Amino acid sequence: MDSNKRPETMARITTKELADEFIAEQVKAVREQVGDKKVLLALSGGVDSSVVAALLIKAIGKQLVCVHVNHGLMRKNESENVIEVFRNGLDANLVYVDATDRFLDLLKDVSDPETKRKIIGAEFINVFADEARKLDGVSYLAQGTIYPDILESIKQAEGKKAVKSHHNVGGLPEDLEFELVEPIKLLFKDEVRVVGEALGLPHEMVYRQPFPGPGLGVRCLGAITRDRLEALREADAILREEFDLNGLAEKVWQYFIAVPDMKSVGVKDDSRYEGWPAIIRAVNTKDAMTATIEEIPYAVLHKITARITNEVDGINRVLFDLTPKPTGTIEWE
Ligand code: XMP
Repeated sequence: MDSNKRPETMARITTKELADEFIAEQVKAVREQVGDKKVLLALSGGVDSSVVAALLIKAIGKQLVCVHVNHGLMRKNESENVIEVFRNGLDANLVYVDATDRFLDLLKDVSDPETKRKIIGAEFINVFADEARKLDGVSYLAQGTIYPDILESIKQAEGKKAVKSHHNVGGLPEDLEFELVEPIKLLFKDEVRVVGEALGLPHEMVYRQPFPGPGLGVRCLGAITRDRLEALREADAILREEFDLNGLAEKVWQYFIAVPDMKSVGVKDDSRYEGWPAIIRAVNTKDAMTATIEEIPYAVLHKITARITNEVDGINRVLFDLTPKPTGTIEWE
């Protein structure tokens, strides 16, 4: 049987009971697969790697070594949350690596989006591999591969062209040969979330909106500078806070801020104030191939605009992007 093919008889996991059954099966399977060996996992804090981490902690406890790489392009408080949930909450064996300077130094003056993606993807593998080499006796690499990833790679193998080079962890250097542990590879995203909740992960983590691997790196448009990146991070945190407060977080599939590398003339405290614009993107989609624009009440937009322009250094305007996909993509880069 092809282990990468979902059996037609496999029931869709829609309830806690079905999720508990799946978890019990996987706990058994993982224990049989890895025995007393160590397993390494790149834990980004996204839904898939978080669910794999929680599942493996249940199966093999401290034999799982989670590595969280902060590339400096995370959203506000994201790395802190990963530490809180996994190290403090689930007593995980968690290695935290703050690699901000490594990434931002390499990205200095690089403005082409695909080059930025490639640098971030490659450096992620370098940092992760450096950490892996420091650990003794690791034989397995766990990955948060899910069924759509498998379907997507089949499509790519058939020669369909991708619009952007999305990356996941993979392609480690040859001296690091691991066997793979991929306990959720036959699940669809909605099932991963049901399993995550059954494992006791926080609702916000399990229902987190998608976040691109290169993070804020593809939202700080053009060549990244630390001050504009910081402004973006703060503006994005305000947007997310207001969407939560106004019940929009559950209604909108993906929402974020992009900050372009351009300034306009504005006025603050009766003086000329040149600043960047913050661009709000709020889209709905089923499969990210096409997307529509969500209508956001004007009152909410006014509040977000007032907060961002008052609270965030360097931003003097807020714009709302009305472009569906196509012709826009969801991200700006
Ligand atoms: P686009 O911008 O292509 O985005 O319409 C579609 C979905 O993919 C996410 N995205 C990425 N995810 N690495 C990722 O892991 C990337 O380089 C990347 N670029 C875009 C985007 O956030 C949206 O959900």
